[in-house]
This record gives sequence, C-alpha cells and structure tokens, in this order.
Amino acid sequence: MAPEKTILVTGGAGFIGSHVVRRFVTKYPGYRIINADKLTYAGNLENLTDIEEKRNYLFEKTDIVNKQAVSDLFFKYRFDGIIHLAAESHVDRSITAPDEFVHTNIVGTVNLLNAALSLWKEDTEGKLFYHISTDEVYGSLGRVGLFTEETAYDPKSPYSASKASSDHMVRAYGHTFGLPVIISNCSNNYGPNQFPEKLIPLAINNIKNNRSIPVYGKGENIRDWLYVEDHASAIDLIFHKGKIGETYNIGGNNEWKNIDLIKLLCKIMDRKLGRQEGSSEKLIIYVKDRPGHDLRYAIDSSKLQNELGWAPIPEFAAGLEKTVDWYLSNSKWLERIISGDYEKYYDRMYSGR
Ligand code: NAD
Ligand code: DAU
Repeated sequence: MAPEKTILVTGGAGFIGSHVVRRFVTKYPGYRIINADKLTYAGNLENLTDIEEKRNYLFEKTDIVNKQAVSDLFFKYRFDGIIHLAAESHVDRSITAPDEFVHTNIVGTVNLLNAALSLWKEDTEGKLFYHISTDEVYGSLGRVGLFTEETAYDPKSPYSASKASSDHMVRAYGHTFGLPVIISNCSNNYGPNQFPEKLIPLAINNIKNNRSIPVYGKGENIRDWLYVEDHASAIDLIFHKGKIGETYNIGGNNEWKNIDLIKLLCKIMDRKLGRQEGSSEKLIIYVKDRPGHDLRYAIDSSKLQNELGWAPIPEFAAGLEKTVDWYLSNSKWLERIISGDYEKYYDRMYSGR
C-alpha cells in the first residue's frame, strides 16, 4: 500500500529530532518517515532504538551540505513534506568554530530548499517545507517584554546568525518562488536525550559525578524552558494545521534565571541520589562568562495557542524531575557519550574559564 505521505525529517538522530521522529512514526503508521542525518557528534541512533524496526521508518545517513546527496535523496523518495531540524546547535561551539555553522545551517538549508523547489516545481498542492528555528534569532531581551512573531531579527552569536540566515532563505524561497514554507521559532528545550554539552544535562551529569557545575557569569541570564515533547507536539500541530507562509513562536511561558534553575536541579538531584540537602549546591562555581552572552529570551506563544490550540503539558518541576529520572536510569547512554571526544571538548571549553 502506498504511504499516505512520505516525510523527510532532517537531524532525526539528534535531541529534538529523535522525539519528532518517534512521535510521527508511532502516531501516523500510514506515513513513511525518512530520517536523514549526518550523525555528527550530536547525532545518536541509540536515541531511536525503540522504533528502528518499524515498517514506516527508514534511516539515511546524509550530509545536507552535500548537494548531490540531498538531490539523490529527494529523487529517491519524492517527499511530500520536510521537517528540517538538522543543524549545528550549540552556541559555545559556534563561538570557537563558526565555519561548520555556516556550512550546515545556511548552505545545508539552501540545498534542501533547492531540492524541494525542483521536486515540487509542477505542483505544490499538499506539500510543505517546515523549517525548525530558534528564538535566538530575535537577539536578547532586557528585563521586560517578550519575543513575538513580529520582533525584528537581531542575532548576536554565530549560531543565531546562521539560524537567522537560514530563516531568511526559507522565507525568500516562499516569497520569490512560491515554495510552501512554514517556520517556527522555539525557546530552550530540555528533556531526555539532550547532549550533555547543554546546561541541564551537563549539570545533571556533573552533579552525579561530584564534579563542579560551571555557571557562566553571575548566573543572571534568563531562558524560557520547554519540555522537548511539548516542542514535538507543537511541530506535529504546525505541520498538519499551520498556515503556509506563517511563522509560529513556541515557548514554555517558563522563565528561569540560570542560577535559580541550577539550584532547583540541585535539590531534585539531592533527593534522587539520597544525598544530604544542600550538598549538590556546593558544587556550583561561577566561571568566565560566554562572550556576547544574551541576557534573556522569553517567548509569546499566544498565536500558536489561540490559532492552533497548542498548550504545553508538564509543569516545570515535574518535567525536570522526569528528565533527571531519565538520565539516572540511562547512565549507559550518558557514559558512551562522555567518553573520548566529550572529555576533550569539556577540557578545551572549561579549562580557561
Ligand atoms: P542537536 O545538536 O541535538 O541535533 C542536531 C542533529 O543534526 C544531529 O543529529 C546531527 O547529527 C544532525 N546534523 C548536524 N549537521 C548535519 C548535516 N550537515 N547533515 C545532516 N545532519 C546533520 O540539536 P537539537 O537541540 O535537537 O536542535 C534541533 C533543531 O532545533 C536545530 O535546528 C536547532 O537550531 C533547533 N532548536 C533547538 C532548540 C534547543 O533548545 N535545543 C530550541 C529551538 C530550536
Ligand atoms: O533558545 C533556544 C536555544 O537554546 C537553541 O536554539 C540552542 O540550540 C540551544 O543550545 C539553547 O541555547 P542556549 O545557549 O540558551 O543553551 P545552553 O544550554 O548552552 O545554555 C543555557 C544557559 O546556561 C545560557 O544562558 C548559558 C548558560 N550556561 C550554559 C552552559 C553549557 C552556563 O551557565 N553554564 C554552562 O556550562
């Protein structure tokens, strides 16, 4: 039987991508889901072992920077929809080595746009190029205000500048060539399967191993945290119900100062590890700030809530607790990642701070 839809998910072996792939493969058995991922340090097929045998799932090791490989992939599967998540995603890495961000995030996105344009040139009916982006394209907020879909772009890091560039290219292909595109810009995700270079899993791993928790600057920076499955549910809704040409902001309405978040995490970890209350907090150290560190991100997601009826589910403390439980009961997953290259990365990144 022909699939109802053939959908390309790029970056499906990464943190958010793996949750999106799992959701689509299990919720829509009539769809065929192709996960195309280069498997960089951040891509891990172990994130998908529970669904890898499903008949409607296929993995294709692909570098989106390779134009020919992308074109071959589109020719082979003739996708109806694309959910584009593949990217270099870590701000600190974009500061030490920006080039890869330009290649993957900008050139890779343009390769996908060109392939979609060429495949759908006769007929765009029912087709969609859905680009997953970040709230960081809007720059940094002061103490008040929220990012809306109308906020002017003002990216400040090589990572956010590369994502902003890709957003502009996606919009330009929509406007100039009539490619059916949608973009969503989401705030900070947390949850199972996040690579331990990012704040929450890094802190969980360090607390577990009685290693210091590096807080940048004074820990005053604010992020708006969203559970990863809530992002996946928003992506599902936008993919099926979003309006072509529109942008949707996705956020948790859940702002936390880094230091307060770390203290909450320390309390949860003390309880889970049966340690004396206050012992994990002693691991906090203040280190040199990230250059150009954005002060605050906060999303107004009322458009998505009002027009498409989306709402995030777990309350933050509950989501954080679920996340801690996942990392503690998946120590093998973590151990495999933090051996070898991760240790070298950690020493390079944190030794001078
Ligand atoms: P991640 O780093 O965990 O995963 C990225 C995935 O992309 C990996 O599997 C990697 O192997 C793959 N990839 C990288 N370069 C590639 C290439 N050249 N070709 C093919 N695959 C490649 O990232 P994530 O946190 O899951 O983020 C996914 C997307 O969501 C990104 O586009 C990111 O900008 C966006 N986003 C992330 C967050 C967040 O908080 N993590 C928030 C908003 C938006
Ligand atoms: O806002 C969405 C973005 O969120 C995504 O687009 C990015 O892909 C994702 O990495 C994330 O970016 P951040 O820079 O906000 O996330 P990170 O986990 O790196 O850092 C969160 C905050 O914690 C930030 O203010 C920097 C700080 N931090 C981070 C690390 C790794 C520390 O204080 N210490 C650390 O060791």
